[in-house]
Amino acid sequence: MRGYPALELESFLEAERHRVGQALDRALRRISPLLDPSLRGAVEQGVRAGGKRLRPIFCVTAYRASGGREESDSDRREAPYDLAASLELIHAYSLMHDDLPCMDYAALRRGEPTTHTIHGERATVLAGAALIPAAALQLWIASGALGLNEGTRRELVRILSRAAGAAGMVGGQALDLLGEGERQLSRDEMDALHGRKTGALLSASLLLGSTAAGASRRTGEALQRYGEEVGLAFQIADDVLDATADAGTLGKHPSDWNLGKSTYVALLGIDGARQEAGLRVEQALAALAEGGIESPPLEALARYVVHRDR
Ligand code: IPE
Ligand code: IPE
Ligand code: MG
Ligand code: MG
Ligand code: MG
Repeated sequence: MRGYPALELESFLEAERHRVGQALDRALRRISPLLDPSLRGAVEQGVRAGGKRLRPIFCVTAYRASGGREESDSDRREAPYDLAASLELIHAYSLMHDDLPCMDYAALRRGEPTTHTIHGERATVLAGAALIPAAALQLWIASGALGLNEGTRRELVRILSRAAGAAGMVGGQALDLLGEGERQLSRDEMDALHGRKTGALLSASLLLGSTAAGASRRTGEALQRYGEEVGLAFQIADDVLDATADAGTLGKHPSDWNLGKSTYVALLGIDGARQEAGLRVEQALAALAEGGIESPPLEALARYVVHRDR
């Protein structure tokens, strides 16, 4: 891993996670006072529970790799993180809903009881729904603070909305539910499912960062290709972890087999799924090279996605 031994990646991730956490705290200070008290606890718990924060980290890393400016004055220095936090608001809501009894019926997430277990289903549905427009507003406000022109700001909102919606994450979740039960989805159907359910938001993370940085078309397209490959690899790794890891390490209970989910593991077996994820990572690295992007952190992140233990 050129220029990025494991220890260095760990400290990079920790430092980035900390700055994303601070941005999320700022976002919650804006959002929470607007919420009915009956929803506040669910929103705060769903967002604050410690995830890996990978989508915002991909976003700010792409921003830097695309030559995005980092201002030294304290008002603007954290603006890229505020922008990236919008992705985590969507991601947090998607997990709150994913864990509901009518979806994956999960009791544990990020090592804590799931939001609906603590706050009930009604509050979780509404708290999740409140986070969708909150994310769009977050992006609009942060892109203004970053000094971007209105056309670019509108493009950012379009990218996030598309990735989060029916053509992206929500559409993928629908395919995921349809893939439960007797029939294992085909390879093409699995690619479409994973690409939408997880790939779309992950790829949008890269695209948001590069668009906010004013990247060239060549750089933007290469990062988007990288994001699509890493996104697929990420969900394949999630399926492999579901089949191989324990809840203590994972922070969530393995459930795909019990729910009869169509996964890459069900389709190809554990070794086959690992191999497929590895191939996706190689394609992601090739996309960076073809786009002339030299970014040791993006290279290390692509490998981390399949070597992580949670
Ligand atoms: C879990 O996402 C759900 C998937 C889309 C695979 P993450 O593995 O990024 O979850 P957190 O945010 O780190 O908890
Ligand atoms: C969820 O996929 C993806 C989302 C869009 C939320 P999973 O159902 O596999 O995620 P986990 O394993 O519960 O985190
Ligand atoms: Mg699910
Ligand atoms: Mg789930
Ligand atoms: Mg899973």
